[in-house]
Amino acid sequence: MIEEDFSSKRKQGTVTSPVITDDTDAFENTLRPQDFANYIGQTEVKKNLKVFCQAAKKRGEPLDHTLFYGPPGIGKTTLSLILSKELGTNLRITSGPALEKPGDLAAILTNLQENDFLFIDEIHRLRSSVEEILYSAMEDFVIDIVVGKGPSARTMRLNVPRFTLVGATTKAAMLGGPLKDRFGHVERLRFYESTEVQKIIERSAGILEIDIEKEAAEKLAHCSRFTPRIANRLLRRMRDFAEVLHNGKITLKVVEEGLDNLCIDNRGLDYADQMYLKILGEKFKGGPVGLSTMAAAMGEDENTIEDMIEPFLIREGFLQKTPRGRIVTELGLSQVGVKNLLAV
Ligand code: ADE
Repeated sequence: MIEEDFSSKRKQGTVTSPVITDDTDAFENTLRPQDFANYIGQTEVKKNLKVFCQAAKKRGEPLDHTLFYGPPGIGKTTLSLILSKELGTNLRITSGPALEKPGDLAAILTNLQENDFLFIDEIHRLRSSVEEILYSAMEDFVIDIVVGKGPSARTMRLNVPRFTLVGATTKAAMLGGPLKDRFGHVERLRFYESTEVQKIIERSAGILEIDIEKEAAEKLAHCSRFTPRIANRLLRRMRDFAEVLHNGKITLKVVEEGLDNLCIDNRGLDYADQMYLKILGEKFKGGPVGLSTMAAAMGEDENTIEDMIEPFLIREGFLQKTPRGRIVTELGLSQVGVKNLLAV
């Protein structure tokens, strides 16, 4: 339910939409593939989505509500864009934190056109009052709003156009059951193979008319954490180094030098990751160390450490999280050149 006189505000044109970003990153947008044929990787997900799209088109219905989950930067927004293009409809983009009040969501829903896609990024961060509006909208394409205040307040039911909700989250476990159950399909996006990332780099270089050696693209792919967004960002930086310090062509030498300048090592660890492993290895003798101690030692907040630094270190086998605290592995120590503590 929406506890505000939303309909009259809408008539007066005073409801302000929450930030609907169609253009979060102009650069990223220029590189986004526009159809399945140009989308590299996520083969199994793509195969299923193509079938679901064809079925929806055949029936003249919107696609079932879809949930994408997986790490950041691996193509959730891009796939949503492709879905909307495939079905010839619009894609409206917003995010969980941007929808502050139920009225924010209601304003978007009532302005959709039939069969449109609504993409909600970080859907696990929706407030419960906003999430509740979604339930009936997803199931029956209606929303219940409260008109007026105090004793004279009454509930009004509004129809919304039939639409497809695409939810995206990096934290599927934080999504409540009632919301998760309303998605017709849930797709897990995985990290990319290095060979796929290399193809993405070569494709992006082609679009941006960047001359890049095969070995250079391969090296960049290895340092991109299996993530297209990181690969494209590194490609841009290498272009800067190549254009300013060299003759414009991205060679293996340019990449090696460029990665060194950016303090990115051969596995894609950046300065903060390397510092984390060194501090844990040298200062705390390998651990175990609690999150708050690590955060204080790094001068970072706990969320940054837990969400931005640790997942990749754990995934790559450099770090272990135990009930007693964080422990650096032998692999982690050797990655940052700290002597094996057990051998001393
Ligand atoms: N750019 C970013 N992600 C991509 C992908 N999966 N395929 C092709 N180009 C991309």
